[in-house]
Amino acid sequence: MTEKHLMSAEEDLKVENNFMKNTPSRHLHKAGRSRKDEFYTQLVDIENELKHYKDQFRGKVIFCNCDDPRESNFVKYFSNNFEYLRLKKLIATHYKEANLFAHEPPYKLEYTGDKYGNRMPDPSEFMTKMIDTGDFRSQECIALLKEADIVVTNPPFSLFREYVAQLVEYNKKFLIIGNTNALTYKETFKLFQKDQIRTGYTNFNVGMFFIVPDDWELFHHIDENGKKIARVASSCWFTNLEVEKHKEKLTLYKKYDPKEYPKYDNYDAINVDKYTDIPHDYDGVMGVPVTFLDKYNPKQFKILGMSASAGYSADVVGIPKIGRLKDARPLINGKNTYARVLIKIRK
Ligand SMILES: C[S@@+](CC[C@H](N)C(=O)[O-])C[C@H]1O[C@@H](n2cnc3c(N)ncnc32)[C@H](O)[C@@H]1O
Repeated sequence: MTEKHLMSAEEDLKVENNFMKNTPSRHLHKAGRSRKDEFYTQLVDIENELKHYKDQFRGKVIFCNCDDPRESNFVKYFSNNFEYLRLKKLIATHYKEANLFAHEPPYKLEYTGDKYGNRMPDPSEFMTKMIDTGDFRSQECIALLKEADIVVTNPPFSLFREYVAQLVEYNKKFLIIGNTNALTYKETFKLFQKDQIRTGYTNFNVGMFFIVPDDWELFHHIDENGKKIARVASSCWFTNLEVEKHKEKLTLYKKYDPKEYPKYDNYDAINVDKYTDIPHDYDGVMGVPVTFLDKYNPKQFKILGMSASAGYSADVVGIPKIGRLKDARPLINGKNTYARVLIKIRK
């Protein structure tokens, strides 16, 4: 993902937020919110990411807590590969918004492996006994969360902050899809700083394709099953499982040159436009693009903070000029630059 992509994704979000702010009806506001929450993950994207975690899944209870067991490709992946991955149990819960007219209750799946030689859950393994809506925050789902070792899903985008906060609160391992904008959320960023979250293996640059509702007008193509597929340039995987690329050292080949790396007006730090240009011999603070987080090795670099338009800045030692400004992006010769992650090379 390039900085341009990330910024345009931020712009998309602003447009969407403004649309919702300016919409007179609360009902429409809610509909606007929930539409993007109804993007479904393709099996191929799940396979491409999850194949890297085979050893970490072994013997574990997997919980897909935003997944209709009859439809979800996460459930399909884990049930098809249950024996191959040597899972202990697969749990999936289906969310159904409380509605006076809904007669069918939401349901959950608890699968402990193949009983009938078809490598998939049979109807007897579905339990239609959920008492609540299947909301991941409900007591019923929290009880299942406590039983789980690893939560794997694509949760609703609009509830991402709350969703991650709950995983952290219950100290759960997770592998989830989110919008790359979430990298700049204060809450998520703090987890990056503490090395409690990292990006997954799927290439950050390409975005992902999702199955969208039939009435979605902007789509990329129709797949072989007649489903509409849309591209979301700003999606990535977030996890606290081990990811090998974050243990690899970035090769730094550039030498510091003050002409090439200007200092910011409002931070005691230099600007680096591409993570590949990080100078190996600069001891001070550097502002690098947010995409750096996809390459971040906590043994090689220390993250001091983030300067983003959202207005929060680093609790950065030695960067005294900045206060809690409305727009905290770095300035060069009075001009705003892009959001930057402030880092130092570890000695
Ligand atoms: C982005 S979709 C992804 C669905 C599925 N996990 C997948 O990847 O194909 C998010 C799903 O979360 C469900 N959802 C919305 N609010 C929820 C909540 N409060 N608790 C649990 N699930 C919720 C939506 O109904 C939707 O099916």
